[in-house]
Amino acid sequence: MENKTKILIVGAEALPFAATGGLGDVLGSLPAALAREASDIDVRVIMPLYEKVGAAYREKMTKVAEISVSLAWRQQYCGLYSLEKDGVTYYFIDNEYYFKRDGLYGFFDDGERYAFFCRAVMDLIPVIDFYPDVLHANDWQSALTVIYNKLYYHYPMKTVYTIHNIEYQGKYDNFILGDVFAIANEHLSIVEYDGCINLTKGAIVCCDRLTTVSSRYADEIKDAFFAHGLENIIRINAEKLSGIVNGIDYDYYDPMALEEKFGPSYRLYSGKTKNKAALQKMLGLPENGAPIVSMISRLASHKGFDLVKCVLEEALNTTDMQFVLLGTGEKEFEDFFRDLANRYPDKVRSLFEFNKELSKKIYAGSDIFLMPSKSEPCGLSQMIASRYASVPVVRETGGLYDTIKPFNPETLEGNGITFCTYNAHDMLDAIKRTLDLYSNKELWKKLVRNAAEKDFSWNASARAYLNMYAAL
Ligand code: GLC
Repeated sequence: MENKTKILIVGAEALPFAATGGLGDVLGSLPAALAREASDIDVRVIMPLYEKVGAAYREKMTKVAEISVSLAWRQQYCGLYSLEKDGVTYYFIDNEYYFKRDGLYGFFDDGERYAFFCRAVMDLIPVIDFYPDVLHANDWQSALTVIYNKLYYHYPMKTVYTIHNIEYQGKYDNFILGDVFAIANEHLSIVEYDGCINLTKGAIVCCDRLTTVSSRYADEIKDAFFAHGLENIIRINAEKLSGIVNGIDYDYYDPMALEEKFGPSYRLYSGKTKNKAALQKMLGLPENGAPIVSMISRLASHKGFDLVKCVLEEALNTTDMQFVLLGTGEKEFEDFFRDLANRYPDKVRSLFEFNKELSKKIYAGSDIFLMPSKSEPCGLSQMIASRYASVPVVRETGGLYDTIKPFNPETLEGNGITFCTYNAHDMLDAIKRTLDLYSNKELWKKLVRNAAEKDFSWNASARAYLNMYAAL
């Protein structure tokens, strides 16, 4: 009983407590999947107690500890709360000065906020008497836990660092090394890169094992096109790097929980048709048999919106497709989609929201899901779309490449449509190939089934993480 392997997962966000993107999905579902897969592990997750964490969860929390954390010349209050969910203990670090704010990140003092968070994690380990066998940190906000352990704490644990997106590195001016990160100057070379402090680089150097969220992305980040300047560091540390593709939460994203339920073994086609009609009714789009193409995404150019901007109008003018967008982000793209919806009232709807419940209706109601990312470490939406039997059309990069294989009408294998070059007309060609298939009922049914039946649950990936932890 007592000999359970102890895993402490550290990160800046986790669903359902607080999230801004895919990292939140992963830290909200991987830990429970690990606990399900193995009865001999004790998985705990630690994150900040943001203002955003809802009252319903706060009421369930118990206070575990209260300590004072020192960060260079600062002494800061640190409360620790916890609650249990799906076999996992979640810890929340409380400090209102740092975390009682409107939003999760994007503040001028994020470096200090997450340095405090990481110091608190390290100082709390003896307080809660939970000495992990493995500390698993995720993205730059938790990178300092790995660095601190190597430089100062020396707890006898292995450290894993996972890159969810190498674009966000945690870069700061060298002069705050001692003052904010409380790291002595003699260690500058560990965290310094390209003339500034780079927390991701420091964690890559200090960790025992480096992972990212698909094997294709693990290869890609050895290359300057994808690595945002870190390609050399990745190459030097390549022997400790591997890729483990994410899964999605099959309970949270469950087409059998919709009002018009369906799934691979229950009303796959008729249930899908009902959801499509409901979506068209809700959005006031004509129910005329036309295929619905949807996008649900942050409106950022690396998600492929440059391509969409280039050729979507051509697609609307030359085919009968309808188009639905859900997402928020860069103004340039919001303006584009707003204008398009105005000019194509019978074909286009643009919804500028981050809304999970609405997203499920769109996944379930659309025929085709477009995800033409320029780079995509893993990507979850293509998997969620598949679960709701919406056929993904993706660019062959990162996790999109690993999860979506092109449909071959001869062998009838493949679970989506893909294109290779980051080029607008290649994407348009992929959309047109998809629409051609859509008009061939037999082939389309097969493709929809392949998409819906593909297993994107956490089971296999949780196993892969457990094997990786065990091999440390
Ligand atoms: C980041 C990546 C995304 C990935 C997610 C979870 O948001 O951009 O591709 O799916 O992290 O790992």
